[in-house]
Amino acid sequence: MNELKNDRYLRALLRQPTDVTPVWMMRQAGRYLPEYKATRAVAGDFMSLCKNAELACEVTLQPLRRFPLDAAILFSDILTIPDAMGLGLYFEAGEGPRFSSPIQTIADVKKLPIPDPEQELGYVMNAVRTIRKNLQGEVPLIGFSGSPWTLATYMVEGGGSKAFTKVKKMMYAEPAALHLMLEKVAESVTSYLNAQIKAGAQSVMIFDTWGGVLTGRDYLEFSLHYMHKIVDGLIHENEGRRVPVTLFTKGGGQWLEQIADTGCDAIGLDWTTRIDEARQRVGHRVALQGNMDPSILYAQPARIEAEVQTILAQYGQGSGHVFNLGHGIHLDVPPENAGVFVESVHRLSEPYHR
Ligand code: CP3
Repeated sequence: MNELKNDRYLRALLRQPTDVTPVWMMRQAGRYLPEYKATRAVAGDFMSLCKNAELACEVTLQPLRRFPLDAAILFSDILTIPDAMGLGLYFEAGEGPRFSSPIQTIADVKKLPIPDPEQELGYVMNAVRTIRKNLQGEVPLIGFSGSPWTLATYMVEGGGSKAFTKVKKMMYAEPAALHLMLEKVAESVTSYLNAQIKAGAQSVMIFDTWGGVLTGRDYLEFSLHYMHKIVDGLIHENEGRRVPVTLFTKGGGQWLEQIADTGCDAIGLDWTTRIDEARQRVGHRVALQGNMDPSILYAQPARIEAEVQTILAQYGQGSGHVFNLGHGIHLDVPPENAGVFVESVHRLSEPYHR
């Protein structure tokens, strides 16, 4: 059961040779797939889907049945941790995530508990164990969490945001409160990811979706510092293999050297950074994941293939690249186009690995 049939993804993250470039898609399980919508309808709401290990496993496997993907990603959400801290996560139709009890004062921060990953978040670990068993070693399973800063934006804003005024107000007017919150969230994320690893995740990724809205200096102090702490606290080996960790900061192109300094194995790139320049800057230290604009998947097959070819050529010869979208797949992308993308990465990348 521990035998991994396709380990390209793990090998590329460690910059070891592979036959072709591995590929997966951020948000590969989701509403662009009709079979996802059908399973989601059975579960009821989104959190009920996450809390049902069998159904969470089913939607994790759906994209793998359609496309020759090189990794599976746990079906869950980054907001499970604040929910487990008691903030009351709910989803308003068409409005995205919301919290019924957002964090407003330092008193709120002081009251925040550190959730026990096998108790309040036990449903996530059950999903990991169920998925891992059902994958039968076909491809590795990716576990994940949000970064402390990105989770803090949702916890203080009470949901998604455009200008992040509430959390930035806390950052500038009451920095000690925000630091205490980030400290607690970082501790929670560390034990959460370690529990996912013990439950069977073979690699982990931290999504810092909103790191790019910070100034150059504030990013280092309020986001990267806490991701660094998490990397330091992670289990780096399990089942006799390294468990690679990928840090993805959307809009993080200016900090690649500092991100590599955390000791992470790979950096996720959005489409605004050139992958050839990124490789020159940090490719001798870390692997790179990315970085096609997800909107390319609206184009004709020939245009999708041309973009894949361009990115492969930019990265160049050799290992250390995990092909991905620069952010999540859009929910109105035709699934066939995702298929063209995945298939063309394998077909067109072969010459770069000779
Ligand atoms: O397939 C996968 O990639 C695994 C599942 C996954 C989800 N969310 C499922 C989901 C992952 C890795 C996430 C991460 C996540 N969640 C992030 C970081 C990555 C990113 O996209 O930047 C963020 C910021 C969130 C927070 C979140 N959760 C938002 C903003 C939303 C609403 C988005 C929307 O499209 O409505 C969610 C809900 C959510 N998480 C859905 C899915 C499939 C849609 C829920 C549904 O209606 O079925």
